[in-house]
Amino acid sequence: MMKKIIILTILSISALFAQVNEAVEVPYISYEIKMGKGFDAVNANCLMCHSFGYIINQGPQSKDFWHKKVVKMIVHFKAPISKEDVEITTNYLFEHYGNGALK
Ligand code: HEC
Repeated sequence: MMKKIIILTILSISALFAQVNEAVEVPYISYEIKMGKGFDAVNANCLMCHSFGYIINQGPQSKDFWHKKVVKMIVHFKAPISKEDVEITTNYLFEHYGNGALK
């Protein structure tokens, strides 16, 4: 984590120095966030700690995978997610970032 921050800092500093005579193109990273039923719950329960990129980076996954990830957030990182929201967020993740398989 620390390494990432340091690397990002170095990158942004070198980006500053690169601004010599030409226009600098800032990379625009857009995450494909799918709105829809359950997004509010993801917004409230997941994005307080990290960006949506963590979710997208997993690629399409099974319902079981997403359920385990949500539970992992609670067990490992003490995420305050209610039982109801575990269901809602799991369903949202599976619907929009699922691979169709339950297991
Ligand atoms: C209390 C803070 C917190 C909350 C709330 C939280 N996460 Fe995380 N999450 C983390 C941390 C910490 C990591 C690991 C970060 C790292 O390794 O750099 C992580 C990593 C992840 C990863 C990457 C894969 C992995 O297993 O580490 C995924 C996917 C993820 N979270 C999904 C979610 C989802 C979905 C929710 C909401 C249901 C959520 N998170 C809520 C703290 C949280």
